[in-house]
Amino acid sequence: MTTSTAQRDQVVIEAIREISHIATLPEITLKIVDLVENPKSTAQDLHKVIANDPALCSRILKVVNSSFYGLPGQIGSINRAIVMLGLNAVKNIAIAASLAKLFRGGDLTPNFSARVLWTHSVSTAAAAKVLCDKLGFAFSDEAFLSGLMHDIGLMVEMQFDRNRLVEVLQRVGAGKDGVPTGDMLAIEEEVFGATHQNFGAGLCEKWKFPKSFAYVTGYHHKPLELPPENRTVACIVYVAERLIAQVAPTFRLDLQSTEIDPAVSEFLKLSGEKLAEIRNTLPEHLKSVESLLA
Ligand SMILES: [Fe+2]
Ligand SMILES: [Fe+2]
Repeated sequence: MTTSTAQRDQVVIEAIREISHIATLPEITLKIVDLVENPKSTAQDLHKVIANDPALCSRILKVVNSSFYGLPGQIGSINRAIVMLGLNAVKNIAIAASLAKLFRGGDLTPNFSARVLWTHSVSTAAAAKVLCDKLGFAFSDEAFLSGLMHDIGLMVEMQFDRNRLVEVLQRVGAGKDGVPTGDMLAIEEEVFGATHQNFGAGLCEKWKFPKSFAYVTGYHHKPLELPPENRTVACIVYVAERLIAQVAPTFRLDLQSTEIDPAVSEFLKLSGEKLAEIRNTLPEHLKSVESLLA
């Protein structure tokens, strides 16, 4: 029996309410999200917010100085980073750097831990940015952050009811290279009454992230169900995590297949040649985002 939409919404609301004392987004991230949302915010505003958190500042500098941004070792201050990369990019990097804190918790099963999910999220984020750049889309920083957030619903499940997530993971099972033997989303439906897509979208709404993040967390397994005007980033993340699973296996218990739906490629105007080209350069890009994993 499938869960009705109303029942599912109820489960999500309850879980988010239950965990909100644990899963409060670090206050600093909320402030940066506000700045991202406010088109009038300036470099000084951002500087004021992050200057109070030296650990975050050094993490941001580590990221901007990684070869991923093509300026290795050149940027000594946040102000300089803003001049070189633009305010928007630095805001997104700041959010990304502050999100690492959320992916905490020990090993749940031999195939799953918050750490493994963080590695998967960072890799997907990097691939999403590379795809955007290659396809000539102007929103690669947003795609990066969406990639980082896409499976956050699993952290909601972990904090809401660890035992039930363990049950899901055990029932999904993993063969060689972490390839799942069961359908994780169907099993989540049975065990939780909702999937990590539902929990992720609920969390993004609760945190008042830009709407596009709820689209990606909520539809990354079925991006074509979104209206065409809202589906581009979700399609990018969909492709990104499949490419990652093909070249550098990370967490993929929710992906039974790494095949890319031709309709998604067509929507993105992503040709087979372009895809192969991106796939070939990915390992190098992944190496350069390792600093985000630290
Ligand atoms: Fe994923
Ligand atoms: Fe997922």
